[in-house]
Amino acid sequence: MKLKTLFFTLTLVGIACVFLAGSIQAGTQVADVIKMENPAYSEHTKGIVEFSHKKHAAEYGAACGDCHHDDKGQPLADLKEGDDVQACITCHKIPGEVPKDVKKEWKTKKLKKDETNKLAREYHAEALHDNCIGCHKTWNKENKSKAAPTSCTKCHPKTK
Ligand code: HEC
Ligand code: HEC
Ligand code: HEC
Ligand code: HEC
Repeated sequence: MKLKTLFFTLTLVGIACVFLAGSIQAGTQVADVIKMENPAYSEHTKGIVEFSHKKHAAEYGAACGDCHHDDKGQPLADLKEGDDVQACITCHKIPGEVPKDVKKEWKTKKLKKDETNKLAREYHAEALHDNCIGCHKTWNKENKSKAAPTSCTKCHPKTK
């Protein structure tokens, strides 16, 4: 190999390494705005929520652990940008809200409120509502504000 060709090849290898290292360092990328349209649902009956993930963490003062937790429900306080997270549906497995007949069954069994809340969170939409609307209600109250949406259509845009 001529010296010039060898030099050229080494330069290419070098550039490739820089790119590779860059892509490894970047880790898991999160979209700034996540379209909440979980593919586990056979259909979405409401307008698709556009969740401003980045603004929540950077501007609204929400910590990663306010939303992401481990398999015991303990906040992932050490989470940082680039780390992998598990999707909510991994654990809050059932798509949708609690069906009416299931709620009726809980009523006849006279289950306590914290029991039914926990059972309800096995349903994905209930866990999300609990997290999102829960914080919004508290925050609005503490800040005498209405900026954090709590009504259906403020999150689910009207379809048609
Ligand atoms: C206000 C709630 C909230 C906060 C705060 C938050 N996240 Fe998230 N994050 C979510 C939700 C909801 C999703 C979507 C998960 C799903 O679809 O199951 C998500 C998704 C992700 C994903 C996965 C993206 C993908 O497509 O796989 C990563 C990584 C992530 N978040 C990291 C973080 C980190 C790091 C922080 C702190 C800097 C953070 N999140 C703060 C709620 C939040
Ligand atoms: C690794 C499994 C796992 C993942 C992933 C997960 N959860 Fe949970 N979550 C749990 C467990 C376990 C609990 C505790 C049992 C309970 O209270 O329902 C819990 C509790 C909750 C609670 C009740 C918290 C409280 O203090 O009352 C909410 C709300 C919730 N999860 C929402 C979410 C959301 C939103 C996501 C995705 C950003 C998510 N979870 C991801 C397992 C998980
Ligand atoms: C830890 C608290 C917290 C949690 C959890 C949280 N939010 Fe928020 N959210 C806020 C606050 C605070 C605001 C208002 C900020 C402002 O306007 O100053 C807000 C505003 C919003 C807005 C209106 C402004 C915008 O950026 O679009 C939407 C929509 C929204 N949140 C959706 C969600 C969804 C969906 C989830 C659950 C996946 C969620 N939020 C979870 C704190 C939270
Ligand atoms: C703070 C934002 C927020 C508010 C307010 C809210 N939701 Fe949701 N809702 C969500 C998110 C996020 C999901 C999860 C969607 C996904 O990940 O696919 C969801 C899921 C759902 C689902 C299951 C998916 C579908 O489209 O069929 C239903 C039904 C639903 N919501 C109804 C309601 C109703 C009714 C209200 C008012 C009483 C309401 N939501 C208020 C954020 C919100």
